[in-house]
Parts: sequence; structure tokens; C-alpha cells
Amino acid sequence: MRMQDKIVAITGAGSGLGREGALLFAAEGARVVVSDAVPGRSQKVAGEIKALGGSTTAVDADVRVEADMNGLVDIAVEAYGRIDVMWANAGIPEPGFGMQPLAESSLEDWNNIFAVNTTGIYLAWKAAARWMIANKRGGALLATSSAASFTAYPGFPMYTASKAAVNGLVRAAALEFGKFGIRVNALCPTHGMSVNFALPAEAEVLGKSYEEMQPWDPDKRAMPLRLERPPVLRDNANLALFLASDESSYMSGQTIQSTDGGQFARTSIIFPTDLGQSEDITSGSIPEDLREQIDR
Ligand SMILES: NC(=O)c1ccc[n+]([C@@H]2O[C@H](COP(=O)([O-])OP(=O)(O)OC[C@H]3O[C@@H](n4cnc5c(N)ncnc54)[C@H](O)[C@@H]3O)[C@@H](O)[C@H]2O)c1
Repeated sequence: MRMQDKIVAITGAGSGLGREGALLFAAEGARVVVSDAVPGRSQKVAGEIKALGGSTTAVDADVRVEADMNGLVDIAVEAYGRIDVMWANAGIPEPGFGMQPLAESSLEDWNNIFAVNTTGIYLAWKAAARWMIANKRGGALLATSSAASFTAYPGFPMYTASKAAVNGLVRAAALEFGKFGIRVNALCPTHGMSVNFALPAEAEVLGKSYEEMQPWDPDKRAMPLRLERPPVLRDNANLALFLASDESSYMSGQTIQSTDGGQFARTSIIFPTDLGQSEDITSGSIPEDLREQIDR
């Protein structure tokens, strides 16, 4: 068991990578505090963990709200006596999912993207680090950044900027927290990521990657690595597991791409064709009901 008795809090764990990580960490012996801003999502994931015999607590928490992030740590400590890992995973995409030009974007959208994707990580980490430092426990702070932080996703300028800021925070926080035994790292995914990211909050949690939603033809994939199966959420959760566990105890300040071509690969996200990207991905193989939701 790679996470035996570790107490882990995960934000945005009601769907996608956070949910997958919560299930994986619990299977590896962690007690997971599952949190999400959409009511009902974290409770459902906690139910799945319990059904598999795991120990877990569910919390509704918005990463933009400092009291919620302080409360998340308080709940972990109340329930399990301490917190060992804070995985700040929640994130949102650009409004319009690649369709909105930067020149037509609003300051409100910019502020909200940064509030969730960047400030949310700062608040979650600060709450956990304060407890770890005060209690001389050490621990691991983890973030979900994005391969966008090393390149630029077409049509996602604000998102790209918010994730690049996360990578800066990883390095700066690692420098400051190392002396307290607190490690700070981020995974930066692209492929095998949650299709729910492109869907509205009220959509059903599908637990699948973009690539799983389309017929899998290895010859037509955007990534250079030949896979005999579509990349899946678990491929990314495995890197999170490594960074959260003691296996990476000599690693801090790292922003690692959990993808096969890094910034050199074309992204496999379902970008709109009119931006001239990823023609093979937008070739009409996406189920009609999913396409309708993405286009909305
Ligand atoms: N899916 C992708 O294409 C992709 C690619 C690279 C990186 N990422 C990053 O991966 C992380 C996880 O996203 P995902 O792909 O699993 O998508 P997802 O939409 O399936 O899951 C994200 C979860 O975060 C929650 N959330 C949104 N705003 C929140 C807030 N203010 N407070 C708390 N929770 C909130 C959502 O309700 C959702 O359950 C994000 O940081 C995202 O930026 C996603």
C-alpha cells in the first residue's frame, strides 16, 4: 500500500482526475477528504470509496473561498487527527472552450479563472502548510497544473496564463517550505484527461477521458507515443500518486508532464475546427449528444 494511513485532502474531487485520484489513493490505503464545489459530487465519490471498503469524508468546498479551504483542513484534522497531503486539483477551462478570442474576453472571466486555477491552489496550500508547520509534521502539497503551462492551448489564453502562474508558485513555495519538510510539486496533464471539463457543472460525471469518448485509432492520435488503448484518467492519477507518496520524498519544486509528448505534441482536447487545430479530433466521431453539450 503506497499511501497507507496517509490523510489526503483533494479539491475538485467530485469528477475527472480528482475523483480518479481519490479512488486510487483510497485503494492504496489513504483516508481521503473528498471536496468539490458542486453539491452532491463529493458525497457520491465518498460513497464509491466506502463501497470499496475505504475510509473517507465528503465536503462541499469552493477553492475560491479562504474559509472553505481552512475548513477543509479543519475537517481533515477533526476526522483523522492530521493532514499529510493537500492536492489542489480543482480547475476550470476558458469560457467558450476555445471559441472566445482574448480581445473579446471580460475581466470578470479573467478574474474567475485565476480565482479557481491559481488563487484556489494558493488558498488550499496555505491552509495545509500552516497546519503542517504549526504541528511540525511536514507533508506534501500537490497541484494539478496543465501542459498548457509550458505551451499555449489554442483559444485558452487566460487558462494558459493561470496554469503558468501555478508552476511559478510550485517553485517559490518549494523553496520556502522545504525546511519544514513540506514538498511541493505539480502534475501537468494533457492526454487522458476528463471529458467533463468541457461539460457544464450539471452534466453527469462520466469518469472518462476525451480519447475514451471517441473510437480509438492509434494511427490517428495527436500524441507521438503509440498506445494500443486510449489514455485514461488513471494514467494521470498514477503520477499524482507518485508525487503524493513517499516514493518521491527527494522531489520538490517539480512541474512534471503526465503526458506522452509534452509541449511538443499537439493537444488532443476537442478544440473547435475554426481555430485550425486538431482536425482528426473534430472529425465527427464524437457522440452527437456530447458534441451538443460541448458546443453549448
Ligand atoms: N480536462 C482537461 O482537458 C485538462 C487538461 C489539463 C489539466 N487539467 C486540469 O485538471 C484539473 C482537474 O480537472 P478535470 O480535467 O478532472 O475536470 P473535471 O471538470 O472533470 O473536474 C474538475 C472538478 O473541479 C470542480 N470545481 C470547479 N470549480 C471549483 C471550485 N471553485 N471549487 C472547488 N471545485 C471546483 C468541478 O465541480 C469538477 O468536479 C483541473 O485543474 C484542470 O485545469 C484538465
